[in-house]
Amino acid sequence: MNILYISISGNTRNFVRNLQNYAQQQHDQDNQQPLIQLKEISDATPEAVETETYFAFVPTYLEGGNGTDNGTQEIMTDALREYLEVGTNAQYCLGVIGSGNKNFNNQYCLTAKQYAAEFNVPFLADYELRGTNQDVQRIYEVLKQNNH
Ligand SMILES: Cc1cc2nc3c(=O)[nH]c(=O)nc-3n(C[C@H](O)[C@H](O)[C@H](O)COP(=O)(O)O)c2cc1C
Repeated sequence: MNILYISISGNTRNFVRNLQNYAQQQHDQDNQQPLIQLKEISDATPEAVETETYFAFVPTYLEGGNGTDNGTQEIMTDALREYLEVGTNAQYCLGVIGSGNKNFNNQYCLTAKQYAAEFNVPFLADYELRGTNQDVQRIYEVLKQNNH
């Protein structure tokens, strides 16, 4: 399974690495369990064409506001959205997993929901900040169920 992600302050990077390690452990116990490959997208990532399916992991950074009538403008994570907009890249996206901080109320994980709407892909799961071990296990199951 492939994961494309962006991470500004390191939480998402930490989470997907934990997910990758967990997948490796599962695979070691039962080699039917899928491994995970990671690809980090940043402002420095050259435009490229994806040819395999992947899941997109995006944290939430929005400009002020409350997420309803304002505060819906994405900041910081544009490089991932622009990458998904390249050619047919979005067609290979199996779903979006969002992260954020619940203190942001209506803005919680809004960027992932915006991606789901823009790219017509499912919003599969969310977790807060660096996530917990339970989040890792839960989201690994979600990825497996949607890996088709
Ligand atoms: C300036 C700023 C704005 C943020 N805006 C939101 C937001 O609108 N909604 C939300 O759920 N989380 C918001 N967060 C929380 C981040 O999404 C959260 O810390 C996330 O884990 C960061 O992931 P990263 O470390 O991979 O960049 C914001 C954080 C910062 C620093």
